[in-house]
Amino acid sequence: MHTIISVLFNMKLGEFEINRIYNIDCHIGMKQLPNDSIDLVVTSPPYDDLRIYNGYKFNFENIAIDLLRVIKKGGVVVWVIGDKIKNGNKSLTSFKQALFFQEIGFNVHDVMIYKKRNTPFMRSNAYTNSYEFMFIFSKGKPKTFNPLKTATVRQGFEKLVTNKKADGINKKVIGELKKEKTRINIWDYAVGLGGSTNDKFAFEHTAIFPEKLVQDHILSWSNEGDIVFDPMCGSGTTCKIAALNKRNFIGMEISKEYTELAKKRVKTLENLLF
Ligand SMILES: C[S@@+](CC[C@H](N)C(=O)[O-])C[C@H]1O[C@@H](n2cnc3c(N)ncnc32)[C@H](O)[C@@H]1O
Repeated sequence: MHTIISVLFNMKLGEFEINRIYNIDCHIGMKQLPNDSIDLVVTSPPYDDLRIYNGYKFNFENIAIDLLRVIKKGGVVVWVIGDKIKNGNKSLTSFKQALFFQEIGFNVHDVMIYKKRNTPFMRSNAYTNSYEFMFIFSKGKPKTFNPLKTATVRQGFEKLVTNKKADGINKKVIGELKKEKTRINIWDYAVGLGGSTNDKFAFEHTAIFPEKLVQDHILSWSNEGDIVFDPMCGSGTTCKIAALNKRNFIGMEISKEYTELAKKRVKTLENLLF
């Protein structure tokens, strides 16, 4: 078996084999997943009728309730969503959904920002919108956090202040400045071909995740061998990046066309999979 697919390759979760993408309405598919079986969800729902997807059908509340059931204790749901603007009025669907997740029992661990480096949607009377929310919902306290690091601005050695002693003298000692620190919770990515992905054919889907965004979350909130789930996997970005990072995955997608696209995308990594 190819090395990128982990030890759980033959395992089943309820009706579903691990490391497969299914053409199924996730309202139906999730009912067949066992309780407490998923380590991490990285997903983006269709929102505010912004795009018409093939076979579009979406009942957000039921999906949130099922996610709470299938996610393991300490598991995390990364929910990426923006808001439509209609007649100059922002829908705030993102906030409404986040409040619902909280009401049903999810912990709102963080509200992160996905900043788009390049964005073509200008408004004449407001600043160009260049972000979406990345809500980090957890079932209790997250069981995994592998913080991603960034280089500090100032490095090297410096006289560092130590606490004042009883004599009032503030001693300074030479110490090494930290070379890196944990990243902030605003992440920016280039979007489009060469930004989101180099898989040209993936753009048959109109709203794909940047692969790097998915990778950063997968590395942060899961470990090798964990099960990563995307109930609305579109072009299959979450599945592809999970496999590349030695995580197991399950993808569900309601559109037959997008399911084929997602399978093709993962197949480019792993000819043995499908
Ligand atoms: C925002 S897109 C996800 C894109 C994906 N993150 C990617 O990187 O390609 C939302 C997807 O949800 C799918 N979808 C909508 N309702 C669904 C349902 N009930 N079950 C499964 N998939 C659904 C749509 O067809 C669409 O592909």
